[in-house]
Amino acid sequence: MKKTEDWIPSFESHLESQAYEKLRKEAFDYIARGAGVEATMQENRHAFDKWKIRPRVLRDVSKQDLTVSLFGKTMKTPILLAPIGVQRIAHPNGELASAKAAGNLEVPYIVSSAASYSMEEIAQVLENNTRWFQLYCSLEDSVTESLVKRAEANGYSAIVITVDTPVLGIREADRRNSYSPLSEGNGCGNYLSDPAFCSLLEKSPTEDPEAAYKKQIDIIDRPGLHWDELQKIRSYTTLPILLKGILHPDDAQLALEHNIDGIIVSNHGGRQLDHCISSLDALPDICHVVKGRIPILFDSGIRSGVDVFKALALGANAVLLGRPYIYGLAVDGETGVNRIIEDILHELDVTMALAGVRTIHEIHSNLLVQA
Ligand code: FNR
Ligand code: LAC
Repeated sequence: MKKTEDWIPSFESHLESQAYEKLRKEAFDYIARGAGVEATMQENRHAFDKWKIRPRVLRDVSKQDLTVSLFGKTMKTPILLAPIGVQRIAHPNGELASAKAAGNLEVPYIVSSAASYSMEEIAQVLENNTRWFQLYCSLEDSVTESLVKRAEANGYSAIVITVDTPVLGIREADRRNSYSPLSEGNGCGNYLSDPAFCSLLEKSPTEDPEAAYKKQIDIIDRPGLHWDELQKIRSYTTLPILLKGILHPDDAQLALEHNIDGIIVSNHGGRQLDHCISSLDALPDICHVVKGRIPILFDSGIRSGVDVFKALALGANAVLLGRPYIYGLAVDGETGVNRIIEDILHELDVTMALAGVRTIHEIHSNLLVQA
């Protein structure tokens, strides 16, 4: 471990340094680093420090209830695993290992469009555990339609459209390393298994894998995506649709007007637009607009159970855990992911008890003060 990290009381630092020891530099940088000068990434953490918990006492906290309800389903805890692609760069078993850990703990799992393995393979590992599919709306309508329909056919119960990635952010470390996990074929599980995608190729992926990887990069995003197009995606599925990457209250308002079923307040972990507002700072204004009409989920910066508590107190219905579970995956595969989730849940449980709340519903903004 690096010397300076011995005293930092941060759960992430030790975990991150362990992952650093395990991974090749390019892979670690891809996972851990952010866009530009990483101002947003730092701000994501700093935003949590601006809030302190003001606890209540003598409220019988002998038993905590961590359940929440989302889209008519009861979830055991208010945590989901964020959609993170290319997980094979962290561990050979990639999503198969992290999904297994999520399934064991009944934590819902969001499969990325850019997963290393296909959504069918991951669904098999997840068995009956709740799973959602994250969609990068493709330049090719046929591919978008096919991905969404495959998700519904394979037991995914919501579609998360990521809207903060019309183009990829500028990631300096990746540029310096000349590294792209997609061009190495680490995020093509859903594409190489897709008939609509394969029909766009001149040669089959086995004959010419490089051309297939390149094609995926060419069509993965849809820079022209616009509110009016969401109806088209809606026509492909009966599943609830969430938008991931909402930071502006006016966009939350538009989401309501377009009958979107849920919002994920996120800045993609500071990997997209640098110098944009931290996700936690964006949360209260969005909650104010939404007024409980649709669920609001939160990600970008969750590192501990205390962070989960703060995000819930500021109005989120549930949170997505991101980088920490990938560090766990890098360090010890399925067991590593399992341990990280358990640690965070344990800390949430203890934080709730010490703050004097018994249910997620009781985690209220009057338990926080600005530092
Ligand atoms: C991501 N994230 C992401 N988001 C998404 O919608 N689709 C994706 O394929 C990916 N891929 C991805 C890869 C890697 C390596 C990372 C670290 C992140 C973003 C992810 O879902 C989430 O928004 C962030 O990870 C949240 O930030 P923190 O809490 O991890 O810092
Ligand atoms: C990322 C893309 C793949 O953040 O979402 O790496």
